Amino acid sequence: MKILNINNNSNNFKILDQKIGDILNKIPPTKEFFEKYNIDYCCDGRKILKDVLTEMNLNKPEIIQELISIVERGCEFKPSGNDEVIKSTDFINKSNQEVIDYILSHFHEGLRKTLPELNASLLKIMRAHIKKHKVLYWKLHELLHKLTYIIEGHLILEEENIFNTMLNVEKGKVSKDSKEYKTMMEGIQESMNEHSIMGPTLKEMASLTNNYTPPEDACQTVINTYKELHKLQDHLLAHTQLENNILFPRFLNK
Ligand SMILES: [Fe+2]
Ligand SMILES: [Fe+2]
Repeated sequence: MKILNINNNSNNFKILDQKIGDILNKIPPTKEFFEKYNIDYCCDGRKILKDVLTEMNLNKPEIIQELISIVERGCEFKPSGNDEVIKSTDFINKSNQEVIDYILSHFHEGLRKTLPELNASLLKIMRAHIKKHKVLYWKLHELLHKLTYIIEGHLILEEENIFNTMLNVEKGKVSKDSKEYKTMMEGIQESMNEHSIMGPTLKEMASLTNNYTPPEDACQTVINTYKELHKLQDHLLAHTQLENNILFPRFLNK
């Protein structure tokens, strides 16, 4: 599916004029460009690309050309299995119910299963490797603990105060002057604030683990846990991106 025609300058300008989150939603491979240049596509997803490039002193022809090459290569969505679903599904055209169902079944349920398993594995690793890697694994434990602490309450907040009300607003069962509506809007802001705490924590985790490269002497438990932590990072970024850039703006912009 061709998303953008970028074969002339006026269309190139159009890309620069779009929100970072929208570009990422339409052309998922642009993620590698944003990550390479440390452009925050999660918390800054609603900012216009050209403003961010100017702010970061990246508004240079060779850098823009690099983005254009990715866009040219990435206009086709390629369906693949399981964790790739987020990259291949066009959520912009899905209903609120479909987006929420996907978030709940794919991301929320996944986190409720993965987080306790990861925490348990990390405790085993800390005990087995305390002599050689105390600093590394203790810090990793601290970061995972911080993420778990935020996420546990975060999922409840979204499920109890946001998602159901969104569906009821859509059906006309909740009016804009109701207490429930106010609670939902406050919940959305709170949720976005929490997303913006998760991003830097994930970055710290990636930097601590050298982008999830296990130490040379790593045992199989460490190797598997690093792999799962890496997957957790990808899932959380996709999850927050879907909420911040697709679902929430449908209500914030009304
Ligand atoms: Fe969520
Ligand atoms: Fe969230």
